[in-house]
Amino acid sequence: MFIVAYLLGSIPSGVLVAKQFNKDLHKEGSGNTGTTNTFRVLGVKSGLVVLAIDLLKGTVATLQPIVFQVHGINPLLIGLGAILGHTFSVFDHFRGGKAVATSAGMLLAYNPSYFLIACCLFIFFIYVSSMVSFSSVVSSPILVVISFFYHDLILSTVAIALTIFIIYRHRTNIQRILAGNENLVPFGIYYHM
Ligand code: G3P
Repeated sequence: MFIVAYLLGSIPSGVLVAKQFNKDLHKEGSGNTGTTNTFRVLGVKSGLVVLAIDLLKGTVATLQPIVFQVHGINPLLIGLGAILGHTFSVFDHFRGGKAVATSAGMLLAYNPSYFLIACCLFIFFIYVSSMVSFSSVVSSPILVVISFFYHDLILSTVAIALTIFIIYRHRTNIQRILAGNENLVPFGIYYHM
């Protein structure tokens, strides 16, 4: 199931959608192949398609042990395979996105209420900062704290590991945020200041 999750996560949705427009996401915008750069380079429709696929990769992968009624395996541990595939895709020279959308898809399958809290936080921080990267980096540690209220050791452990990973994947974004030149999205308070 972990291998299936990895292969599912490896589907390079952004790269494939960009190919339809003869574009290479590696060479445009932030160079990232995830949802945010797809929105930036290809527009809203393509961005929504990639967001949906990247979310679904995490959701479907995580649902495997639940659907096949395999007991004794925490679905989150399978979901991590999809996140690994999404960030280090076997179909894209081990390149990929920054783990956010597929992680969200994994949370949707595992715990919808936690997923909804994550979405609210994520949208709130995009609204105040007009930066998807800022929101990703700030929402993750807050979600670790919130996970403690669920009294679920594996959820908290995965949330901590993902926070470290997401911050690592956003290291160039963090440099741009600190330098004051991170890409903005045309949404929220900061963009309109
Ligand atoms: O989830 C990725 C996002 O946080 C940043 O994407 O393209 O601005 O580096 P990007």
